[in-house]
Amino acid sequence: MALITWSAQMSVGIAKIDEEHQRLITLLNALHARMMAGRGDEVVGDVLDQLVSYAKTHFATEEALFRSHGYPQAAAHKKEHDDLTAKAVELQIAVSGGKAFLTLPTMTFLKDWLTNHIMKMDMAYRPFFAAKGIK
Ligand code: FEO
Repeated sequence: MALITWSAQMSVGIAKIDEEHQRLITLLNALHARMMAGRGDEVVGDVLDQLVSYAKTHFATEEALFRSHGYPQAAAHKKEHDDLTAKAVELQIAVSGGKAFLTLPTMTFLKDWLTNHIMKMDMAYRPFFAAKGIK
């Protein structure tokens, strides 16, 4: 069973951003499936690397959109992106160094890491971009 299932309630109303969020969810679900299947650290670490790398790409997409349209909450939003990235990189380093393993609590942390951000911070920009006709 997937850790997270995409639903219309997660849509921020911008197609490119929704696609990127769906890709992040797919990667997180793949990571969860590998963990549940008891795959080796190398296989798990590879998917975790992809997740962290794609999260950085996605955060850059949003921040570029903020700059282009003068989103007033950009600084606070970027700070959360930076904090999320730092936490994920910390986990990535711990896993690759054999100091941490992907367990259910770790997966719950990553699930919350992604869903709380989308449902709170990302959802907060929806009306701003909708008013500008961005979709
Ligand atoms: Fe979709 Fe602010 O990350």
